Amino acid sequence: MTDIQGIILAAGKGTRMYSNIPKVLHTVSDKTLLEHVLNKAHKVCNKIHVVYGFKGEQVKSSIEDRSVNWVEQREQLGTGHAVSQVVPQIDNESISLIMYADIPLIKESTLDKLIKEADKFGISLLSTKLESPDGYGRIIRKDGEIKSIIEHKDATKEQLIIKEINTGFIAIKSKLLKKYLTKIDTSNKQNEFYLTDIIASAVDDGRIVGSIITKDKFEVAGVNDKVQLAELERDFQKNQALEFMRQGLTIKDPSRFDCRGKLKFGQDCTIDINVLIEGEVYIGDNSSISPNCIIKNSSIGKNVSVLPNTVIENAVVGDNASIGPFARIRPQTKIGNNTKVGNFVEIKKSSIEEGSKISHLSYIGDTSVGRNVNIGAGVITCNYDGSNKHKTDIRDGSFVGSNSQLIAPVVIGENATIGAGSTITSDAPNDALTLTRTKQSTFKKWRRPKKNK
Ligand code: UD1
Ligand code: CA
Repeated sequence: MTDIQGIILAAGKGTRMYSNIPKVLHTVSDKTLLEHVLNKAHKVCNKIHVVYGFKGEQVKSSIEDRSVNWVEQREQLGTGHAVSQVVPQIDNESISLIMYADIPLIKESTLDKLIKEADKFGISLLSTKLESPDGYGRIIRKDGEIKSIIEHKDATKEQLIIKEINTGFIAIKSKLLKKYLTKIDTSNKQNEFYLTDIIASAVDDGRIVGSIITKDKFEVAGVNDKVQLAELERDFQKNQALEFMRQGLTIKDPSRFDCRGKLKFGQDCTIDINVLIEGEVYIGDNSSISPNCIIKNSSIGKNVSVLPNTVIENAVVGDNASIGPFARIRPQTKIGNNTKVGNFVEIKKSSIEEGSKISHLSYIGDTSVGRNVNIGAGVITCNYDGSNKHKTDIRDGSFVGSNSQLIAPVVIGENATIGAGSTITSDAPNDALTLTRTKQSTFKKWRRPKKNK
């Protein structure tokens, strides 16, 4: 097996992003552009070198991968200069694979083909044909063979008509790379060391340049501004949605579905429009997610209905549960089987056991709710005294009447009943009715005050 050395160029500023964040740290889905390229590079390379420059420390600290060799390019004197910073550390017998950090969606299979061509011919180049090739380096061919690359700014009128462009991906035997890099200079319109000039050197050296042409414009699309970033995001999301659908997930409209993370699902799951999945999410058999829901780092059981406009984060939902509409399930919440959480209910760091219902307008925080509990509309667990959080324990079979406040720490006993409108400050015993309520009074013949003239 040939040793493959990946060289990722990431030193540029990305002027057209108009951002303080280095271009390669902008994201497509949940990963930075650089992470996308690194992930692909790892699949085909034995070692990866990243050339960094603009805001280098920020770029470096964004990557946890300790196996990356970071190489600084102090001044951005061109792509050829950037590669020259790395080659002293690369063994002659290897193949170098050059990639740009701002082209995130390159396919592993394409990189493989490019490497195979370089193995065969010594050097190979990935190109594509574009309807509007403006800004790109043009591929100059003679009798079908690649002869050189002319940068847009250096091209003649005739050359500007050429639609075949340089994507930036080049694979080359490292020994040849070193040799051809010594030949490049800055005699061009931009006064830069162009990496692309190594193609003409290889041809002068009597070589044929291996050629791979891709038809997938997204795998070689670069990010230069926020418009291109959004286009790539959409393409990434669409492809991901198609893949999920091929695996059996029903997605009502793949153009209105986003997953920024990892989604796993059982059989016959349905995702309606405008759903956002983040982090690691699992959805069990026969469950459905209604429009406008956000689910992050959570596991949803079987036969669950997540109703519209519900937000679930870092939570576990059991089987046959119904959540929402407009529910907010916050971190460290566990909702059991056959439960119901209705509209405008917020639950935080709590467990709700099997068969319990919290149907309307409640806040349940730091609470353990037992089995078959019924929590009425507008019940609030007052878990915070202004300094500390306290726990509420609502035991099996109890019933908490509407509009009650449970001042934690407090225990509502088994099968206890809390009368509506109560403010519960001490434990409520099992099997009994507890209520705090002033007696109702009526003032007969009472008149409302008249308005002053
Ligand atoms: C480059 C190619 C062009 C190709 C296009 C594809 C050259 C001379 N031109 O042009 O043929 O069609 O990409 O997108 O190579 N970088 C450094 N250090 C530098 C300069 C650049 O690390 O000194 C990095 C940038 O961060 C970027 C990549 O190299 O990731 C490409 O540089 P850029 O200036 O965008 O090149 P283009 O003009 O787009
Ligand atoms: Ca570019």
